[in-house]
Amino acid sequence: MSAPISDFVSLDDFERHAFEVLRVLPRDYFRSGAWAETTMHENRAAWERLRIWYRVMRDVSARSTSATILGGEASMPVCIAPTALHRMAHPDGELATARAAARADVPMILSSLSTTTIEDVRAAATEIDPAARTWMQMYIGRDRGIVRELAQRAHAAGCDALVLTVDTPVWGIRERDIRNHFRVPDGLSIVHLERPGGPTGHTGSGIQEALAWTIDASLTWKDFEWLRDSTPLPVILKGICRAEDAARGVELGAKAILVSNHGGRQLDGAPATVEALPHCVDAVAGRVPVLVDGGVRRGTDILRALALGAQAVCIGRPILWGLASGGEEGVSRVLAILAQELDVTLALSGCTGVNDVTDDLLRP
Ligand code: FNR
Ligand code: LAC
Repeated sequence: MSAPISDFVSLDDFERHAFEVLRVLPRDYFRSGAWAETTMHENRAAWERLRIWYRVMRDVSARSTSATILGGEASMPVCIAPTALHRMAHPDGELATARAAARADVPMILSSLSTTTIEDVRAAATEIDPAARTWMQMYIGRDRGIVRELAQRAHAAGCDALVLTVDTPVWGIRERDIRNHFRVPDGLSIVHLERPGGPTGHTGSGIQEALAWTIDASLTWKDFEWLRDSTPLPVILKGICRAEDAARGVELGAKAILVSNHGGRQLDGAPATVEALPHCVDAVAGRVPVLVDGGVRRGTDILRALALGAQAVCIGRPILWGLASGGEEGVSRVLAILAQELDVTLALSGCTGVNDVTDDLLRP
C-alpha cells in the first residue's frame, strides 16, 4: 500500500491510489468516458492549455477563497458534482461525501442514482452544519410519478435546488462497462428509484441495459417546463453545451446553467467544457449564474473557469477517488487540496479573492 492519504499532495495522487484499491468493475465504471474517451481527456487538457497572465506587486497578504454560489456563501467556488453509486467506492457512500462537503462548506449535488436516500444525506450534512446546502440531481425517467415524488422528497428534505440533467436522452456507450458486464453490485441499490417488483438495475451488461429505465429519450423543453411547474425549488439545467440551449433554458426559467458534457461519458467528440463555457456565458448574459464541470483537477483550473465567467465549478471523479481512498477523510482531503491550490493560485495571480479574477488574466 502506498503512503497514507494525509501525505497525498494532489488530486492525481488520489486517482492513482483509488485505481490500486478499487475492484475492476467499480473502478472502470467511475473512470470511464464514452467510446474513445476523447472528450473526457480533452476536458482536462483544454484547461491546461489556457495560460494565466498573472499580475504582480498587488499586496496579496490578506486573501480569501470564499465565494457566492447561487446566492449562498461557500468556502470556495466549488460544488460536488452528482455521481452515482458512492457505496461502490466506500461503504459509507454518500453519507461520507455529505459530511465532508458540509465540513468544507461547499454545496453537494446528490445523484438521483445514489445508494443512500436524500433524507439520510440531509441528516448527515445538517448534523455537521445546519446550513449545509444539498441540491438534488434528477433524471426525468419514463415514470413521471417517480420524478414528481422525488422532487417533493428533495424539497421536504431541505434541498435548496433541483439539478435537471439534460445530456442523457440515452446512455453514452462506455466500452469498459460493456466488457465488464457492468451491473449494480449485489447488496447495493439505486434507492430512490426502486419499486417493489419493479426494475432493480440488476439485469444488464453495461450501463445501457442496467440503467436504461432511469431515463427517457422523448424529453423536450416541455418536460423541463413540467418539472419547473411541479416544484417550488429553483431548477438548474445540467449538461448544456450550446449557446442557444443555454439561452432557451434561461428564457424558460432555469435558475442556473451548468455547462457539462457529463465528464465525457455521453457524446464522445463533444467539445471540452472550457471551450463551450464562453459561448454559454455570452448567451446567458448575466441573467443567471453559469457553472461548469469536467476535468477540473487543480486550483488553477478553478481560476481559469472564473476568468471565463463561471460562478463556480463542480468536481466529479476526484470525489470518488477520495471516497475510495479514505471515505469521509479522503473526500475532505481532496477538497482541502483544492482550496489550498486555489488560495495559492489567487496569490500568484495577484488576486486577494475570487472577485479579483477577471477575463484579462487569460486574455491580457
Ligand atoms: C457522473 N455524472 C453524473 N451526472 C449526473 O447528472 N447524474 C449522475 O448520476 C452522474 N453520475 C456519474 C457517475 C460517474 C461515475 C461519473 C464519473 C460522472 C457526471 C458528473 O456529474 C460530472 O458532470 C462529471 O463527472 C464532471 O467531470 P469530472 O470532474 O469527473 O471530470
Ligand atoms: C453515469 C450516470 C449515472 O454517468 O450519470 O454513469
